[in-house]
Amino acid sequence: MKSNVALIGFMGVGKSAVGRILADDLGKSFVDSDYLIAQRTGKTIARIFQEEGEIAFRELEIGIIKELAAGANQLIACGGGVVLNKINLDRLKLDGVIVWLTATPEVILKRALADGTGRPLMPPKLAEIRRLLSLRKPYYERAADFAVDTSDLDIEAIVKRIRNELRTNADFN
Ligand code: S3P
Repeated sequence: MKSNVALIGFMGVGKSAVGRILADDLGKSFVDSDYLIAQRTGKTIARIFQEEGEIAFRELEIGIIKELAAGANQLIACGGGVVLNKINLDRLKLDGVIVWLTATPEVILKRALADGTGRPLMPPKLAEIRRLLSLRKPYYERAADFAVDTSDLDIEAIVKRIRNELRTNADFN
């Protein structure tokens, strides 16, 4: 049985909020790749993008994911762009189940506006979210062991879905 669970999905789908509760529920430690990057560099993600650019951020992300993927029994909340570099998924899959949280563009925009976190790549308009989502969708699809559409679910219900899938699907046990 794989010991890690990695949450992937577009910005604002609730990976961190779901991840914290799911970690408790599954008895795993919660780790958040963006949080660790910010902690290690002493900079916010927005500042890294601003001062060093996206390529530098992706390199930091690859390094953190490498480290986390080598650990065990963790619930890993990944940044939305983690799927853009295949090496991240290859590493996460070695000892992890990959769970894709999805949501409609409308819900993503609403959640992003509500949580107000500074996200350098989050488009402020629905049409742009749609465009970026459709570009990213094949990457999420390819990476995921299974998906949960979170659009109409609260955090507790999302956690329950994931827990049930992890417990009942023979592939993960
Ligand atoms: C990104 C998503 C962000 C963060 C960075 C880039 C992306 O994480 O890693 O701003 O490319 O989708 P969240 O998905 O946690 O917002």
